[in-house]
Amino acid sequence: MCGIYGEVGRGDVLKNAIDGLKALEYRGYDSAGIAFFNELQRIKVTKQKGMVASLEAKAGVDRWATRCPLSDPLDYNAVIAHTRWATHGKPASKNSHPFKQGRFVVAHNGIIENYKEFKTELENRFIFQSETDSEVIAALLEEEYSKLWDSQFTVDEFEEGFIDILTRENKDMTLEAIYNVSKKLKGAYALAILSEDVPNTIFATTNNPPLIVGSHGDATSTFVVTSDEAALPANSQIYRLKPGEIATLDDNAIKIYESTGEGVAPKGDPLFQPIQAKQQPSKDGYPHFMKKEINEIEKSLRATLESKDTEQFKRVNEFLKTADTIYLSACGTAYHACLLGKHYIEKNLGKQVVAEVASELRYMEHVGVALEGDPHKVAAIFVSQSGETADTIAAAELFKKQGAKIITITNNPNSTLANLSDEVININAGKEVAVAATKSFTSQAFAFNLLTGDTCVNCLEPFFAEAKRLQENTTQIKELVEKYKKVKNIFFIGRLADYATSKEASLKLKEISYIHSEAYQAGELKHGTIALIESKSVVCAIITDPKIKDKTMNAVYEVKARGAKTIVISPFTELKDNAVVDDFIEIRNVMHDLIPILSVIPMFNFAYYFSKQRGIDPDKPRNLAKSVTVE
Ligand code: M6R
Repeated sequence: MCGIYGEVGRGDVLKNAIDGLKALEYRGYDSAGIAFFNELQRIKVTKQKGMVASLEAKAGVDRWATRCPLSDPLDYNAVIAHTRWATHGKPASKNSHPFKQGRFVVAHNGIIENYKEFKTELENRFIFQSETDSEVIAALLEEEYSKLWDSQFTVDEFEEGFIDILTRENKDMTLEAIYNVSKKLKGAYALAILSEDVPNTIFATTNNPPLIVGSHGDATSTFVVTSDEAALPANSQIYRLKPGEIATLDDNAIKIYESTGEGVAPKGDPLFQPIQAKQQPSKDGYPHFMKKEINEIEKSLRATLESKDTEQFKRVNEFLKTADTIYLSACGTAYHACLLGKHYIEKNLGKQVVAEVASELRYMEHVGVALEGDPHKVAAIFVSQSGETADTIAAAELFKKQGAKIITITNNPNSTLANLSDEVININAGKEVAVAATKSFTSQAFAFNLLTGDTCVNCLEPFFAEAKRLQENTTQIKELVEKYKKVKNIFFIGRLADYATSKEASLKLKEISYIHSEAYQAGELKHGTIALIESKSVVCAIITDPKIKDKTMNAVYEVKARGAKTIVISPFTELKDNAVVDDFIEIRNVMHDLIPILSVIPMFNFAYYFSKQRGIDPDKPRNLAKSVTVE
């Protein structure tokens, strides 16, 4: 999680850093910070709680106040910046990166698992301002560097003045300090580092989390370090640091140093790869990306169908039919797509499926048992919009190591998850920017249906048309939001596939409107949860399966009897006139197998308008990030 951006060059590197950070906000936006050299070559650190836009204003003021030499095109400067998703310590300015201890300033992505053992000891010599694991790295560097520095010279040499030698040695000693500290750290880290002893130079290293060094667009003498190429303009030349490598970026060049165990050795110029020109995502006139993406559901479903590789789908389908065990795994919304996937595989292929969230699956005993048998008969399907979710990748790696076949359903066929997979199914839904996943969910579920069913692809027009109608049908949804805007709890109920979509509807409402919401299997309500139902409750039932329609309606009767307001989402129009149904949202009768995919669309709109009604930014709800890259 979190995003790092650093730049060395002439001109407005501070502005470039702010723009770079904005492109990284999908990795977290709890707070942001920036560090740069002032005219006295001291490092000024500016931090701000909240999004990068708030930092921008503050950094602008500090830049002039400290006479940061950025206005003259001949001036050189080095900047490191960070956008944070909080892990250790609440979202606050004091916990924002970069952190300064002594002459060192550090921006960190990842989690240092053993930071406490150092912090307790370092507290005798350093004052820590934050609750983070990351500030400890800055203190460790300062401590290590001081030791190296002290050991270089005798008191006599100082008196004679060795200024030239000192200037040359500072960079080497900094590299050595970084190398030595890296050996002490346990956990995950990508680091961008400044030192007041080595002005206008950035040091960067990683032990796994992505970190890229390269040029900034066509500006071949402006060098950057970032956690994601999304922060770079087209034509930038990039090099992905390998674990253990340390890079230096200064006014002349980027150099990569390899950690050999015997100090650091220059490796020479890295091999740079150009990045593809990319289009900046645009809201295309919509007030939010989320609404734009809801309105793209129909288009994305069509694109999922178009990108279907018939041979591949046949191959995967055959494999699923012969597999001994089938696992589906993912996180969040993608996990809910797995629940629909389970429904489709069990219904259409008659095979039993285990669907588990990725952070749990790899610790489950039965996984070990299945993989110890014949791993080639284990099908493991991982679903991820981004393909970069750490929990999902970790689970996939475990299965891969044991020899299972890895199948990935993703919107990013160039992702880490896709790269480790045997089969990559590209849902091709188009870029999804809003934190709340919408069109990726419907396309993932559709991919499962296409993979397992005998869907007549020429009969899909009514399905696409209904998706379009539902995504644009906002009048009824806005009325519902107005009617229920004061409620504190909303429950979603359904059975089988409708339970999967109930969970997704509930998650969407929670994450962008902060309303308390739960999803239950409709039949389970009476076994406990019904105790929560009272006259101020709202219960939304999703009912798309004729086989269980009456059973789910029993639950609607039960909650109505206890005073709840009820919403029913269903193709069964006779329910509209049922006295226990307060509001009815119709899904027009398309192919029965596909109705569950459509039933969630009204609730995407419901969550969106609820969020807006409460004055929340639906694209960037609190505490969340688009891509969750920590376990
Ligand atoms: O990129 P992924 O599909 O792997 O992301 C998984 C979840 O983090 C994601 O679906 C999350 O739950 C969304 N905020 C849901 O709207």
